[in-house]
Amino acid sequence: MPTTTKGSIRFTRRVTDIEVSPTLAVMNRAADLVAQGIDVVDFGPGEPDFQTPRRVAEAGKQAIDRGFTKYTNALGTRALREAVAARYNQRYRTNVGVENVICGSGGKQELFNLMLALVGEGDEVIIPAPYWVSFPDQVAFAGGKPVYAHADVANRLRPRFEDIERGATKRTRGGILNSPCNPTGAIIREEELHRIVEWCAARDAFLVFDETYEFFIYDGNRHASAMRWFEEFPETVIVVNSMSKTFAMTGWRLGYAVAHPEIISAIGKIQSHSTSNPSSIAQVASVEALRGGDDEVRKMYEAYVERRAWLVPALNRVDGIHCELPDGAFYVFPEVKSFFGRAGIRDSQTFANYLLDEARVAVVPGGAFGSDDYVRISYATSMERLHEGVARMERALQKL
Ligand SMILES: Cc1ncc(COP(=O)(O)O)c(C=O)c1O
Repeated sequence: MPTTTKGSIRFTRRVTDIEVSPTLAVMNRAADLVAQGIDVVDFGPGEPDFQTPRRVAEAGKQAIDRGFTKYTNALGTRALREAVAARYNQRYRTNVGVENVICGSGGKQELFNLMLALVGEGDEVIIPAPYWVSFPDQVAFAGGKPVYAHADVANRLRPRFEDIERGATKRTRGGILNSPCNPTGAIIREEELHRIVEWCAARDAFLVFDETYEFFIYDGNRHASAMRWFEEFPETVIVVNSMSKTFAMTGWRLGYAVAHPEIISAIGKIQSHSTSNPSSIAQVASVEALRGGDDEVRKMYEAYVERRAWLVPALNRVDGIHCELPDGAFYVFPEVKSFFGRAGIRDSQTFANYLLDEARVAVVPGGAFGSDDYVRISYATSMERLHEGVARMERALQKL
């Protein structure tokens, strides 16, 4: 395919305003090395290294066998939306029903739909930094402007009400919170979240609360969900969740949002003209996952607990790395700025390149998440690979 040299293809603002995920650059290089047969320890993946639980996968197979392979309601089947609602009602004593739930092809799709439905040209959306890579670009795509609320290192990068409030202007339309956070693992404390919800409600702002990693919280910390205040502030609180991480179902593409029925109808309209329903097969599997027990999820959780307990002290033993114990998710976010200025390393990107070249270890540069002094390491990989990767890092960094 010839590449254009005349610059004759014209694109819209929507495309030119957004970036290809910067996490991809290092990951693509790592993939190229692997394709050449080179053994790379890959700490990049944002997905569980476990299989989808067997009974869940079986439910998907049975859906195919019985011919449940056609279009469904564009917002998801009644059975799945009821299962989502029931799970929330049971946990938070809410009274949500099918009209409060939309299911789509990943939580990412619902976040995207929400930005398209709620954010207009010039609207500002407050996002705590470090942030998940897609939040700012989704806001920009919709014509809005991301405003970053930088979390305080002294507060272990946990977002606070003050950080959010500081970002407010007349143009603030809403905020996006992610707890536990990708990439830091930081969780938001219940009292901070409560203040943020009330503050958003008082200014008619929306609060999108992304709890994709809700199941993975450690050291006896408890997950605070904005769902707790849904009944009180139904026009404000919007919760987005996903089957991807909790049930190791990244490839099935199933996520959902819980919100006011008018918001659900609005984003349902968008979805009905874009992808329509998420895969019918994935929907059946998801009902099984949500209704069944969490035994297999617990096993994954225990594995993450063990890996995290080994990984954080091991990284801290490497001279020059400082790594906080993250509250949740399956990432650690060590600070690596002490290496800047050595051997051509200037920032998180060049640090990641050095590790890939010298140690054959792939990490994601923190710049991608709005914090250039850090890198993200995923421990959704085996203990053996963690040992190998950290040993390689140590050897390569000692040379600096
Ligand atoms: C914070 C966060 N939100 C949402 C998603 C989207 O997940 P999915 O589209 O697979 O449901 C991800 C995936 O990496 C994520 O890290």
